[in-house]
Amino acid sequence: MSDIQLHIQHLRETIEQHNHNYYVLSQPTISDYEFDMLLKELQDLENQNPEFFDPLSPTQRVGNDINKQFTQVKHIYPMLSLGNTYNEGEVNDFYQRVAKNLNEPFELVCELKYDGTSVSLIYEKGVLVRAVTRGDGVQGDDITENVKTIRSIPLRLQGSNFPEKFELRGEILMPWNVFEQLNKEREQQGEQLFANPRNAASGTIKLQNSAEVARRKLDSYLYYFLGKELPTDGHFENLQYLKKWGFKISDAIEKCKTIEQVFDFLKKWNEERKNLPVATDGVVIKVNSIKQQNILGFTAKSPRWAIAYKFQAEKACTRLNSISYQVGRTGAITPVANLDPVQLSGTIVKRASLHNADIIESLDLHIGDMVFVEKGGEIIPKITAVDKTARILIGDKVAFIKKCPECGAELVRYEGEAAHYCPNETHCPPQQKGKIEHFVSRKAMNIEGLGSETISLLYDNNLLKNIADIYDLKVPDLAQLERLGVKSALNIKHSCEESRNVPFERLLFALGIRFVGETTAKKIAFAFQNIDKIIEAKEDDLLKVDEVGIRIAKSVVNYFQQEENLQIIERLRFYGLQMSLSEEKLAERTDKLAGISIVISGTFSKHSREEYKELIERNGGKNVGSVSAKTNFILAGENMGPAKLEKAQKLGVKIINEDDFLQMIS
Ligand code: IVH
Repeated sequence: MSDIQLHIQHLRETIEQHNHNYYVLSQPTISDYEFDMLLKELQDLENQNPEFFDPLSPTQRVGNDINKQFTQVKHIYPMLSLGNTYNEGEVNDFYQRVAKNLNEPFELVCELKYDGTSVSLIYEKGVLVRAVTRGDGVQGDDITENVKTIRSIPLRLQGSNFPEKFELRGEILMPWNVFEQLNKEREQQGEQLFANPRNAASGTIKLQNSAEVARRKLDSYLYYFLGKELPTDGHFENLQYLKKWGFKISDAIEKCKTIEQVFDFLKKWNEERKNLPVATDGVVIKVNSIKQQNILGFTAKSPRWAIAYKFQAEKACTRLNSISYQVGRTGAITPVANLDPVQLSGTIVKRASLHNADIIESLDLHIGDMVFVEKGGEIIPKITAVDKTARILIGDKVAFIKKCPECGAELVRYEGEAAHYCPNETHCPPQQKGKIEHFVSRKAMNIEGLGSETISLLYDNNLLKNIADIYDLKVPDLAQLERLGVKSALNIKHSCEESRNVPFERLLFALGIRFVGETTAKKIAFAFQNIDKIIEAKEDDLLKVDEVGIRIAKSVVNYFQQEENLQIIERLRFYGLQMSLSEEKLAERTDKLAGISIVISGTFSKHSREEYKELIERNGGKNVGSVSAKTNFILAGENMGPAKLEKAQKLGVKIINEDDFLQMIS
């Protein structure tokens, strides 16, 4: 081995040891700066010596920007779930069942039930070879590249004597602090918030861009060791081996000989879990001996040797003082209950969401009522019930407002929607701010530096009232704003300049016409090709566009009937934004697939699924999600879904491969 190679190897081992110290043991021995320097040194050496590339190098944990489809992988052992219990009585029933079926002494292990998304890891000869999601329990998605970015999951095991091949199951988690930070960023970007860390973790692990996964700092706990040659007969003892080999195994675990010890564990962790950095939603109780587990076996859905005890959602009772109504960016009205402050899950709750008028009605809420608030998996508490026995003097029954609290417009309720809306899109302040936030967001005009707080500040200072004003912003005006400064002001201006090149279809989406999402905007843009034709379009013309129904058609016509919107469009035109499809985009369009419905299934080698979708649309075809009698053909890659295949055969739908397809449109 050359000196360079030895040095590279030494650096890799040192860095992985520091990863372990930091992410598994929570005991870093060097500073973040020193760590970054080591990583940089390794990165430089690897760049200079590409022949020593190693997919398991710590430099590979940062992910990459290549978008990929996930391949479906069949699980070696199906991934089952656990039976749930909600009280000590049901836990006792489980204990008695086990005792009866085993008819010999046994030990139980109590551990926390982590509330994330489950993963199966396969190790061969001490290295991570595959990570798969639970999927439908029989097969899941291959998420190895994403899982490699999780620093608490070893890519290469420490120590020795591990089985040649084994599987491990565990939970991928997003720690509370990462979750809160991520939601804060999403709020500033005008993106939808994650309701809880579980959704955030499962959404993140299925991202197609592993660099973004790496940025989101996921964590893990492993709790289930499977394989033919496990080190001992004890589940608890086996987990300790895993710990020695570098895995993150929770210390919140106890072996119990009696049901009383189990109850003590439940009681203890029902409180202490509140201090943990990650979400838990219960305790899992397992029979320790693997031999005994095998004797007990499985039902069709879950093991007979384990059960989950779910923590009760924490509840508090407090007084309802009043209701306020918030107007969202889309004009949706959210009723919020103002409460006497009360302690709940470690925080003081003063407000709770009431969702909509139907929920208020079904609770039969009166001002002054004593109400129960609960924090489920969600961060915002909700009112779940009224303590009617506590009603001494009945206050006014809560009646939903009729007018917008921000602008006074009469509220409307669209058919089929639970929410009330303020229809005054052009003059209601939160809606105007919301429209601007949408306009600058990443998938729209992608203007950087204008977060929701800055937009709000500019709006309140009368510098920014609508989307066209963005292009009139002056650097000195921006720079004098609190927290901004000259550098940020220049960056914002620069980003505005760049946005003039954003293609027409994205501009159409950015306008924020109600019900016109990204895809619809694209379809309308391609059908009409420039803004003037869209302005002139009648409902009937719009209805001819694929996926445009009456609700969208009406909304588009209505948008372009408003004089103010037309003025905004004229100003955007004047500032040089793209008001028609580019020549290249037009040249790419054909009618080769006009009137043809195509289902895409499986994974492909020449283009990604997204690219095939784009190709279908560009050639005038229609990409549909499920096979029906109207489907003209299926574009099938590898591992086509079995259900789709069966249906296609039944309906006699033709199946073509990627080469056939590319030939068709060539
Ligand atoms: S053991 C045969 N242990 O809960 C199933 N599961 O409802 C063995 N979970 O799918 C699973 N913490 O995603 C086990 N300490 C723990 C767990 C745990 C969380 C999840 C897991 C599983 C689900 C079952």
